[in-house]
Amino acid sequence: MSNPSLLILPGDGIGQEVMAEVRKIIDWFGENRDLKFDVSEDLVGGAAYDAHGTPLTDATMAKAQEVDAVLLGAVGGPKYDDLDFAVKPERGLLRLRKEMDLFSNLRPAQCFDALADFSSLKKDLVAGLDIMIVRELTSGSYFGEPRGIFTEDNQRVGINTQRYTESEIDRVARSAFELARRRNNKVCSMEKANVMESGILWRDVVTEVHQADYADVELSHMYADAGAMQLVRAPKQFDVILTDNLFGDLLSDTAAMLTGSLGMLPSASLGAPMENGRPKAMYEPVHGSAPDIMGQDKANPSACILSFAMALRYSFDEGDAATLLETAVEQVLAKGIRTGDLMQADGGTPVGCKAMGDAIIAE
Ligand code: NAI
Ligand code: MG
Repeated sequence: MSNPSLLILPGDGIGQEVMAEVRKIIDWFGENRDLKFDVSEDLVGGAAYDAHGTPLTDATMAKAQEVDAVLLGAVGGPKYDDLDFAVKPERGLLRLRKEMDLFSNLRPAQCFDALADFSSLKKDLVAGLDIMIVRELTSGSYFGEPRGIFTEDNQRVGINTQRYTESEIDRVARSAFELARRRNNKVCSMEKANVMESGILWRDVVTEVHQADYADVELSHMYADAGAMQLVRAPKQFDVILTDNLFGDLLSDTAAMLTGSLGMLPSASLGAPMENGRPKAMYEPVHGSAPDIMGQDKANPSACILSFAMALRYSFDEGDAATLLETAVEQVLAKGIRTGDLMQADGGTPVGCKAMGDAIIAE
């Protein structure tokens, strides 16, 4: 049998630096755990624009459709800010998400004990926190029609439409319930069924999918505004949170900040199963290209490394390898080895991106 395939798209700025550390880790698993991947690498974002005049070539897009998983660094940077909208680096990322139809966005908010002091909440509220937000990513108010700025009665009107079909809700609900079964069997679904019809349908379909196929999972519902309050009041009550695109954007960023730095946050975006049973998938850190620190060996590679751990778990069913990697990151932090983004004002000397990657490998 051939090895599973990975397409690596480092992108721009620190995307390239953090991805270099992930490549070292991929090599480590090949050499030490006989876990081998067929790895190819290509350009995306500004790097692709510089080389080809487009943020994503058709050839790279086709490759992304074929592989078992895509790993992406970050795209963008001030150099590209004045480009036409159609060729902006972000368009490369959006095209990947759209054409691969990655409808389920997984954003963990996990508190590493060593970093509990970095939370904006009291330490005991976040110590041990481990929640997963499942955000619908390809529909809802960021895509619904009609949209635009129109003129009505001599004034401008801005319009976006929150629109969800039954099948769109059904598939993302299934992905949340499947995930819950691999975790603690608990899903809280959030919408605004009190004031939005799309929210009423959301609640109905989630309930139907639950009754039909996932009755073993504990399901609760919450209005998204109440959910936001609960998330900062007592976050540990949650395990999997299922929500739509717009609320998920806000709730996942809120949850993320309960746990500290952008440099620690991974993500996965999953689509429908391919012929081999694996979901279409792209894994990427939440952070951007960080032009303020690029090229200085200052970036924290953990977010990208933890994104690869998610790939191990969700694309390749290598949960033990994923846990090994996550534990290594946790141990390195516990030893006080930190990149600059994780230093307190009074604390020691930070290590660089490469040294952080090396420390994780050593661990
Ligand atoms: P950013 O995430 O790149 O940086 C925000 C702040 O966090 C900066 O001070 C940066 O130094 C720090 N930071 C981020 N990641 C870090 C890491 N791994 N280690 C240490 N420090 C880290 O967001 P910003 O500055 O708003 O955007 C910069 C560029 O990145 C823009 O062109 C933006 O469009 C793009 N961007 C791309 C994203 C993506 O590719 N998914 C996501 C967000 C922004
Ligand atoms: Mg956001």
